[in-house]
Amino acid sequence: MPVSFSRPTILMCPPDFYGIEYEINPWMSRSRASDKSLTQEQWRALRDLLESLGADVQLMPPVSGLPDLVFTANAGLVWRDTVFLASFRHEARQGETPEDDRWFRAHGFRTVAVPEEWDFEGAGDALFCGDTLFAGYLIRSDAVAEQWLAEQIGCRVIPVQLVDDHYYHLDTCFCPLGPTEAIYFPPAFDEYGRKTIEEHISGLIAVQPDEAARFACNAVVIGRHVVVNTGCPQLEADLVQRGYTPHHTELGEFIKAGGSAKCLTLRLDGEEAAVWP
Ligand code: ARG
Repeated sequence: MPVSFSRPTILMCPPDFYGIEYEINPWMSRSRASDKSLTQEQWRALRDLLESLGADVQLMPPVSGLPDLVFTANAGLVWRDTVFLASFRHEARQGETPEDDRWFRAHGFRTVAVPEEWDFEGAGDALFCGDTLFAGYLIRSDAVAEQWLAEQIGCRVIPVQLVDDHYYHLDTCFCPLGPTEAIYFPPAFDEYGRKTIEEHISGLIAVQPDEAARFACNAVVIGRHVVVNTGCPQLEADLVQRGYTPHHTELGEFIKAGGSAKCLTLRLDGEEAAVWP
């Protein structure tokens, strides 16, 4: 059964088993637990907001013992009816991949694993801007895996090195808005990566450190609508100036795990900014 979509389609996973059970990035501390009911409330509000903007939200069943399964962005890189599955760097998340694999195959996708020796954390580290795949490497994903992926797809890839552990996935410091527009947090990249982004993308919005720490770059784009965590007023003003409509919703319980709006979603029909080969 081939996949086809009549509207923006987003995969989410209810946070029934979400929690801070291990520490694999600097935002996570087992001593700072998430609040169960607040977590459900914030997740539900994000889902409702995305649906109100026209998205069809599909659900991955939550699994006990996999608290980060809620971050569906990491499940894989979607390209047409193919999903290049994640190969997680940390053991704590490796149990997610068989769950993801099962879901995608049951929903008409073909799944492909990256060669075993390499790590790759899905759309968390690989984002199309136009026909080019921007790929974050070093902290969670290997550049060689991303080169391999681009070969499979037949697209250009620009691997950019991530240098700050707080911005350990590309989607925490870079967000394509359209084929020539993106949000980014310059200090998260080395000089070469920063220059490469600046050379290839003409319409860039740079976020300030305080808003980057509120996960300003971890935004969900649906048409001209952009959904972010609360506490990013400068970004919202910059978006308005460029003709976008920003929306915010509180996601503090997920920031405790180092994730926000974008991490909690995976676009199944292709990101707004993607021009697929
Ligand atoms: N606790 C998760 C991790 O460290 C958060 C993942 C956030 N996802 C993302 N796409 N940035 O892996």
